[in-house]
Amino acid sequence: MNAIKVGGAAILMICIGLFVAKINEGDATEVVMHKSPNCDCCSEWGAHLKENGFTVVEKTHDNMDEIKRTLGMPEKLASCHTGVIGGYLIEGHVPAADVQRLLNEKPDIIGLTAPGMPMQSPGMQKKGQEPKGYDVLALDKDGSTYVFSHY
Ligand code: CU
Ligand code: CU
Repeated sequence: MNAIKVGGAAILMICIGLFVAKINEGDATEVVMHKSPNCDCCSEWGAHLKENGFTVVEKTHDNMDEIKRTLGMPEKLASCHTGVIGGYLIEGHVPAADVQRLLNEKPDIIGLTAPGMPMQSPGMQKKGQEPKGYDVLALDKDGSTYVFSHY
């Protein structure tokens, strides 16, 4: 490896370090939710989290694809909004109970995702209904997934 390559690798490592520090900011009750301005189900999901003791800070963006790419949520696992809490990503209509369990168990993963827009999920279904008919996936650091919760 020549000096330029070593320098480049060092800069890359610093960038990754800063990025990780950035998503680890904030305490573990506040969800920062990135969403597009014209999506209502996102705020409905936010309301579901608030009912379960979380604080939700909404940030609207016109370039959610880019935001997801920057945060590290693969396109094939994407939903509408991307939440960030305690250094984890929460993609889409993930029930608050799973967010709570994630924060309690602290697995070494990127976060959780409910890809697409499951109709019977908090934020999509009527209030008071149980989530049904979809899986919440855990996204591992190597890009693989496993079922975190089955509804
Ligand atoms: Cu949605
Ligand atoms: Cu949404």
